[in-house]
Amino acid sequence: MSPVPNVTLNDGNTIPQLGFGVWQVPDDESYSAVTSALSIGYRSIDTAAIYRNEVGTGRAIADSGVARDELFITTKLWNGAGETWTADSVRREFDASLERLGLDYLDLYLIHWPRAVREDYIAIWRAFAELKAEGRVRSIGVSNFQPAQLRRIIDETSVIPAVNQIELHPDFEQPELRAFHAEHGIVTEAWSPLGQGGALLDDPVLARIAEKHQRSTAQVVLRWHLQIGNVVIPKSVTPYRIRQNIDVFEFKLDADDLVAIAGLDSGNRLGPDPDEFDM
Ligand code: A2P
Repeated sequence: MSPVPNVTLNDGNTIPQLGFGVWQVPDDESYSAVTSALSIGYRSIDTAAIYRNEVGTGRAIADSGVARDELFITTKLWNGAGETWTADSVRREFDASLERLGLDYLDLYLIHWPRAVREDYIAIWRAFAELKAEGRVRSIGVSNFQPAQLRRIIDETSVIPAVNQIELHPDFEQPELRAFHAEHGIVTEAWSPLGQGGALLDDPVLARIAEKHQRSTAQVVLRWHLQIGNVVIPKSVTPYRIRQNIDVFEFKLDADDLVAIAGLDSGNRLGPDPDEFDM
């Protein structure tokens, strides 16, 4: 049985609170990484059309022997430049992702970026709602959306995203977005939850907390996400780290630890600013 608890989404479905992310994993490596993750006990896998690893990911899923209804598979529409989106073109991309993954339904489909300057995400969102109504995807959400864009989606369609997947780590804690999510029942899913494994994991405050709990700084960071209610999808291609990153359910940070980690927020965004990014 998987040690990972589920979080209930605003449409009544559930998502494992910890999953496995494959951003920046080449297709040929995604097979072995996802195979390791599934054998270790991960049940949620997060990919995207633009990661170009849906094929390797799908093969690993097929070969894992894990029943489809025990898995939670997410991919994302690459709403990149050069296309005016219609219900048909969204459906075409959705079908292509499913085919690459070798699946006949998805658990979660996300709009990858708001592409805010073009303001064409409403048409995409309406097409997502149709796919959900048809049962081809169980839950729909967005990624990298800011409060203004979430508000617009909700005002114009009345369909509230189940999830907003955003950059979030202890030195980029996104308090405003998290508050907006809490107010509207949107689950916060953190991408690059470990700050992409960079300097953050050498932070002295995290090192002190890690030593206190006899854990790694990465485990402390993941535990922090879980305790503040985030869904996390750490990425690793290293089997001992893949194992370490799911071994975070048998210790607990205390109130002092949580305050100390809250104090690390320096607004250090690693990825693009969603208000400006136009792919
Ligand atoms: P690798 O894939 O070589 O194991 P994020 O999920 O925040 O984007 O972070 C991913 C990065 O963090 C990758 O470079 C990954 O390296 C590294 N990483 C993942 N898990 C750990 C861990 N437990 N300890 C240290 N680094 C990790």
